[in-house]
Amino acid sequence: MPALDNSPRLALIKTLSDGQFHSGEVLGQELGMSRAAISKHIKVLQQWGVDVFRVQGKGYCLPAPLDLLDEASLQSKLNVPTFSLVPVIDSTNQYLLDRVGQLTSGTSCLAEYQQAGRGRRGRVWFSPYGANLYLSMYWRLDAGMAAAMGLSLVVGVSMAETLNKLGAEGVKVKWPNDLYWQDKKLAGILVEMTGQAGDAAHLVIGMGLNVSMPETDSVDQQWANLKDTLSALPDKNTLAAALINGVIDALKEYEVSGMNGFVERWDKFDNFKGRAVKLILGEREVKGIARGINEQGALMLETEAGITPYLGGEISLRADV
Ligand code: BTN
Repeated sequence: MPALDNSPRLALIKTLSDGQFHSGEVLGQELGMSRAAISKHIKVLQQWGVDVFRVQGKGYCLPAPLDLLDEASLQSKLNVPTFSLVPVIDSTNQYLLDRVGQLTSGTSCLAEYQQAGRGRRGRVWFSPYGANLYLSMYWRLDAGMAAAMGLSLVVGVSMAETLNKLGAEGVKVKWPNDLYWQDKKLAGILVEMTGQAGDAAHLVIGMGLNVSMPETDSVDQQWANLKDTLSALPDKNTLAAALINGVIDALKEYEVSGMNGFVERWDKFDNFKGRAVKLILGEREVKGIARGINEQGALMLETEAGITPYLGGEISLRADV
């Protein structure tokens, strides 16, 4: 089946992104289509999560201007300017995974809307159009799959540092793959890989950052938005480019020096260090006090038996203390 041509809808959202009213008639003239066609496209935009509303006699409008990704702006800001901006996509991770053989390290893919955004453990990553940042990066890791655990922590540290530099206050990391703010999830990282054991690993690192996620029932946990962590949001292209540039620098450093230095950098942002947590390992639960990470990127968990490193599982805060 040929891919659906989204260009009329993308042109429509670009016009509406100024946050002003646009009549159906003028939109139709500008985009060379009937008012009925405009109304049909608007319905699709609403399904993508764009909050377009209509006022009789005035036309269509967004509740606020929408900051959109722009190829030329990204091109000028990225240190490795090999990227694909695919506004409507199934998943930016899948896009790169499908092209692994043709990519060089640092190549990225960005989208405004994911129809099948995915999170860890088979969860869905809700990705409304233009509300947040959805991006992925390819990285070839010569050290092989065993080094991938550390790598995903390095990505989190780098993202927290970049957001901090851009003025976000109180951004934290949660072992192994999240950014947190005020004990709520701000961003998630999904690392997927292909490759043979003993060979170089081909990694696709997906980053989903909540920027202005609207109220929704589609997310099953409390979340934080970047817009609440700073006084003024940087424009989206600056934000995306800074995150990508930061991750590339961090990964280059990781390739040379491993976790050296990153344990201390993680420590500065660790949301759970010294706090009572439970570690969920499939059916099993281990309760203890989080004591940071070690050089392998393992969670150090203190229980009555002492401090034990754990490489798998997910942690959450314990209320029963
Ligand atoms: C998680 O916390 O569960 C990980 C979420 C990762 C979401 C990002 S959004 C960009 C990239 N493409 C995807 O389909 N998923 C990742």
